[in-house]
Amino acid sequence: MRIAVLGGAGFIGSAFVRELNKRGIRPLVVDLLTYAGRLENLKDTDHEFVKADVRDQSIHEILKQADLVVNFAAETHVDRSIYKPQDFVTTNVLGTINVLEAARRFGFEYAHISTDEVYGEECGNEDSPLNPSSPYSASKASADLFVKAYVRTYNVKAIIIRPSNNYGPRQFPEKFIPKIIIRTLLGLHVPIYGDGRQERDWIFVEDTARIIADLLERAEWKGEVYNIPGKQTVSNLELVKLLSEVMGKEIKIKFVSDRPGHDRRYCMSTRLSYETTPLKEGLRKTYEWYLENEWWWRPLIADKFFKEDEPWK
Ligand SMILES: NC(=O)c1ccc[n+]([C@@H]2O[C@H](COP(=O)([O-])OP(=O)(O)OC[C@H]3O[C@@H](n4cnc5c(N)ncnc54)[C@H](O)[C@@H]3O)[C@@H](O)[C@H]2O)c1
Repeated sequence: MRIAVLGGAGFIGSAFVRELNKRGIRPLVVDLLTYAGRLENLKDTDHEFVKADVRDQSIHEILKQADLVVNFAAETHVDRSIYKPQDFVTTNVLGTINVLEAARRFGFEYAHISTDEVYGEECGNEDSPLNPSSPYSASKASADLFVKAYVRTYNVKAIIIRPSNNYGPRQFPEKFIPKIIIRTLLGLHVPIYGDGRQERDWIFVEDTARIIADLLERAEWKGEVYNIPGKQTVSNLELVKLLSEVMGKEIKIKFVSDRPGHDRRYCMSTRLSYETTPLKEGLRKTYEWYLENEWWWRPLIADKFFKEDEPWK
């Protein structure tokens, strides 16, 4: 089976490529290599690589021979979506429609990677209404609706997968956990948005990759939704405390103003059954990876969304 991984040079996409390699599969990786996509993330993996933009017509020719396309390609940072939403609309919405058009033409199975953020703050299951708060989650929710529309209207074979907050090796330093680790290693304070009591459900990225690979084998491709919660919810302040224990270091926190539209919590259930890595164990693996791979993160710390306390401004 020919599998294409869109956005495979990013954080979760590259973990998914590693999971496919474990299963003896050599995928085609298609990625634009934006600020978040790096060939370093695919070091020591077995894959074919094509640089391309999901918004571009050229994607059709590239995906023509695929049997299955898994789409991780997206703009993913909520703060950036508040600062400048336009790329979130073009990549996350129009890019998805472009890939759906290719699925309509060539008939491949399409796994769309969405997020728990589309549900907003209310607890729910796979059938809950979408209630996004940020430009990021609004773009992801819009894309999900187009996937459903293409299933209904054109019989495209597709599914929607909604993981909760991922963490692990190779996550860009703008995101909360790598930001805490790297800033603490550099002796800097960690900005905490609002009161720090917002709750997030964390899942180790290797679990997400494994669960996605497993569910692709049993999907019905009728537009069904699969939630992937980590089932380990903590507040941001509790997370800082856990990381401080794991790192054996004091983490200097600084309360700053809250991110506009900041959801207090995400909270979804799942109909899948799986095990996840205990949070503390996953945090330890993640910390060790950042300790050993300074070459990976050092070139990225000049970035506004790593450096500033309230970068959305
Ligand atoms: N990280 C999380 O906690 C999380 C949680 C739930 C869902 N998701 C979803 O999972 C997917 C992957 O997230 P991630 O954290 O790995 O993101 P990431 O930002 O690390 O990687 C995104 C990848 O997409 C590529 N890309 C961006 N625009 C592109 C374009 N126009 N054409 C081709 N490639 C493009 C980037 O180069 C990068 O390699 C996204 O769809 C995201 O919404 C992420």
